[in-house]
Amino acid sequence: MEVVIVPDAAAGGELIATAIADLLTRKPDALLGVATGSTPLPIYTALAAKVRSGRADASRARICQLDEYVGLPTGHPESYRSTVLREVVEPLGLGESSFMGPDGNAADITAACLAYDQALADAGGVDLQLLGIGTDGHIGFNEPCSSLASRTRIKTLTEQTRIDNARFFDDDIDQVPHHVITQGIGTILDARHLVLLATGAGKAEAVAATVEGPVAALVPASALQLHPHATVVVDEAAAAGLK
Ligand code: F6R
Repeated sequence: MEVVIVPDAAAGGELIATAIADLLTRKPDALLGVATGSTPLPIYTALAAKVRSGRADASRARICQLDEYVGLPTGHPESYRSTVLREVVEPLGLGESSFMGPDGNAADITAACLAYDQALADAGGVDLQLLGIGTDGHIGFNEPCSSLASRTRIKTLTEQTRIDNARFFDDDIDQVPHHVITQGIGTILDARHLVLLATGAGKAEAVAATVEGPVAALVPASALQLHPHATVVVDEAAAAGLK
């Protein structure tokens, strides 16, 4: 695992956007796995700026989701489909046809999860998967004690994650869904390159456990230690717990 400490979130975003631009030069139709939440926004802003100024060509890029809420109405602005379309797909000048994600409204959620893993494999696998990290060490919505071999499946959100995410739902925890579909840890580990960005003091403990602790289901992000090409980019505040 490679750990890169940057001064701040903007520097982390620029660094990772440059890595994505380089990947797209080598492989124009790369499949990019994207995370939602606050952390990756500087990456998407920096990458869109590179595309607009001609320093990156994302015209053939393909985008896939990491996770999705279960049961939000189609088109809900906080569904991860809507969020990724708004924050990544549209700013890169791409259309919906270049984008794939799990169906959080499927009548048969188990079948939808299996179908998503199959779709990722059929697409040739994820070339670069962006990850954030929860304060409890989750990646995607693989909460502590998730199997390190897990595949895409439905999960129940912990109370802490619902509290953390209430800010996207008018600070009203009652609006935050209880269930999500998430790529499993095993699914995430199938990507060819994992890039985790963590910023802010609130992530320092989770980052230390991820990078320097044992590989353990209690800290799902620690599974990155098992991957042959994992990069953890942290700002100085999030690096504060590293020895
Ligand atoms: C979102 C996701 C989550 C977030 C994590 C951190 O797609 O997979 O694992 O990355 O909850 O969220 P932020 O970045 O908002 O602190």
